[in-house]
Amino acid sequence: VSGAAVADHPLATVSAQRIDALLDGFAALSAPGPGVTRLCHTPLERQAHDVFAATMRELGLHVRSDAAGNTVAERPGTRVGAPAIGTGSHLDSVPHGGRFDGVAGVVAAMEVARLLVDGDVPHVHPLRFVAFAAEEGARFGRAMNGSGIACGALGPADLDAVRDADGITMAEAMRSVGLDPAAVAAARWDPTDWAGFLELHIEQGSVLERAGVGVGLVDAISGSTRMALHLTGRASHTGGTPMHLRADAMAAAAEIVLQVEGVACDDRHRGTRATVGRLTVEPGSITTIAGAVDLSVDVRDVDADRQRATAAEIVGRASAIARRRGIGLRAEMLADAAPVVLPTWVRGVVADTAERLDVGYRVLPSGASHDSQMVGRIVPTGMIFVPSRDGISHAPQEWTATADIAAGTDLLAAALLELDRRLAG
Ligand code: GLV
Ligand code: MN
Ligand code: MN
Repeated sequence: VSGAAVADHPLATVSAQRIDALLDGFAALSAPGPGVTRLCHTPLERQAHDVFAATMRELGLHVRSDAAGNTVAERPGTRVGAPAIGTGSHLDSVPHGGRFDGVAGVVAAMEVARLLVDGDVPHVHPLRFVAFAAEEGARFGRAMNGSGIACGALGPADLDAVRDADGITMAEAMRSVGLDPAAVAAARWDPTDWAGFLELHIEQGSVLERAGVGVGLVDAISGSTRMALHLTGRASHTGGTPMHLRADAMAAAAEIVLQVEGVACDDRHRGTRATVGRLTVEPGSITTIAGAVDLSVDVRDVDADRQRATAAEIVGRASAIARRRGIGLRAEMLADAAPVVLPTWVRGVVADTAERLDVGYRVLPSGASHDSQMVGRIVPTGMIFVPSRDGISHAPQEWTATADIAAGTDLLAAALLELDRRLAG
């Protein structure tokens, strides 16, 4: 029974059916193909925000959207002028991703709002339920765009700086769905207007499942350094060109891919993750030596220095390979987000709440990036993880049992009210 032990006004029970219905509704908003494809700054992402806004309005909440595409629903608190406590996550997906990444946290927020409204539960601080835009940003190579704007990490100039595979800038994509990139400065949150934030998210790893624990409390969130490596060789006939007269951009790329994997596998890099997830090959013909290859590189770490040093080492190794092979190399920095240590006191409030509700939990770091990384810049922030089946995410097989999301939502609701009580002083 949800949060009954916490408040004088007991919460209604989290509804698994309602969670399932909301998840199904969002999953249906997808481009064709396996899994969920709802890329940022597309009509599908906006439709998902519209569903969120309409549902929250039906609950009687005040809903506003900003120039960055974020949607915020607010339930007033009892103390006039008190700063807000927030919860939420994102509604965009990666190409052919799952139905839970981001959405689980938004659905949990929607369900918490319903519990509070149905139970007529008062709180001192306003509670804000947030759907962030463009967290994945996979289309542009840069994550946490809506939250980055809200929390002051990104401004209007940054929206012209990244392009998708078709050469469309983020600013152009935003305009195409009715957002106003020139006005994003107004989407910036005032830190004094916020008291705390909790994000529920799927783990996207297998720590909780292996431990048989239903809830994770995040202590640190990995950073991510993302680069594009542009290799230029010489396109030529695969039959007519002898092996010793080639400048084969593909063969250079193959060596670099293995170096990226290898760099993160030695003893100095325990905990570093380095990945080439995308190769673009020109002209991409069976009878032509590759003249140009673009590689994406993503370096994740909870150690900021090691993250940057690893990225630099990758560029160094790639340069040596390119030089030896007579290939041109240009390294482009796409995005660089630092790891974040979340405040212990917020995690402590959630841990105390879990203990009171007799919910087992485990403290763990996050390997993925999250809006909380940005929110944490200006608001004391905590994260609740729920288990991912087989640890799979960013793939159609991504799965979390409804019962686990419901249990996490129970804890989220109770922890938000506990934060409200403690911050009220
Ligand atoms: C974004 O959520 C990422 O971790 O890739
Ligand atoms: Mn996510
Ligand atoms: Mn993701």
